[in-house]
Amino acid sequence: MSPHPQPVARPPRVIAVTSGKGGVGKTMFSVHLAARAARRGQRVLLMDADLGLANVDVMLGVSPAASIQQVVEDECPLQDVLVRCEEGGGFDVIPGGSGLHGLTRLSSAQQRILLDEMDALGPGYDLVLIDTAAGIGDNVMYFVSASESAVVVLTPDPTSLTDAYALIKVLSRQRNMRRFMVVVNQAAELDAQITFRRLLSVADRYLDVHLEYMGHVPESGNVRRAIQSQRLMTPGSTMPAELENALDAVLDHPRDGARGGLRFFWQHALSDAMANDDEPRRASA
Ligand SMILES: Nc1ncnc2c1ncn2[C@@H]1O[C@H](COP(=O)(O)OP(=O)(O)OP(=O)(O)O)[C@@H](O)[C@H]1O
Ligand SMILES: [Mg+2]
Repeated sequence: MSPHPQPVARPPRVIAVTSGKGGVGKTMFSVHLAARAARRGQRVLLMDADLGLANVDVMLGVSPAASIQQVVEDECPLQDVLVRCEEGGGFDVIPGGSGLHGLTRLSSAQQRILLDEMDALGPGYDLVLIDTAAGIGDNVMYFVSASESAVVVLTPDPTSLTDAYALIKVLSRQRNMRRFMVVVNQAAELDAQITFRRLLSVADRYLDVHLEYMGHVPESGNVRRAIQSQRLMTPGSTMPAELENALDAVLDHPRDGARGGLRFFWQHALSDAMANDDEPRRASA
């Protein structure tokens, strides 16, 4: 018998960053969350789950050697798609890849392959972040319900608010998600609080959910310039303090023990998907 028993692997924390409306700052928040956690010494994997578009890779200026399309077609392991980003303390990225129209709706078979590949990679990480597409499409439902917890990003724009509500409604009613962390982007503090209270009052009235305010990010030239120049902002210099606080609030938020680890989630999502997917098919390119 080995004198050093193998430690029991702790399942990674899995957080999805999502939104009802597009263009509200999910990728901006995700990439900085990844760098922040890495800077804290966590082993981080950031997955771009907007599979048809290159969000994360463009923002970070990284280019993958293989595409996730090859992974779900069982041509190469997910490991081959990983790109190392040296920002923060350094973290791994699974880029989405642009022009992958066939991936706008993963079939059950493709979801199963991705599940197995994520399961294999999971134990190497403390935190898995999933930057999703916007809205209530099949892939978004799949990735968010595969996660332990979700961060919903919205702006004070009324359409962003109604779309965030619609997303939370569908996730709670169809996927049994109950707890959501909320970040209001491109808003001054007061506007952000008013926006959150509006969302909270309608959610409290009609849904069985628990929403928690993680903070706000102001509309900022530094944020815009950082994204344009494909450089992450660093804490204590260009990064707005409010963003720093919101990132810390998410990272310090207690884990949702009731929802378990990575494997459970991916399998849970898969069985949900199979129940909702009697005819697996791939969208035509
Ligand atoms: N706090 C901010 N201040 C200024 N500009 C911002 C801020 N947050 C986001 N932006 C701008 O909004 C744009 C969209 O941000 P981002 O790509 O993160 O949104 P997204 O929700 O990921 O979009 P998509 O739904 O297309 O994936 C960015 O290119 C940036 O210019
Ligand atoms: Mg994005």
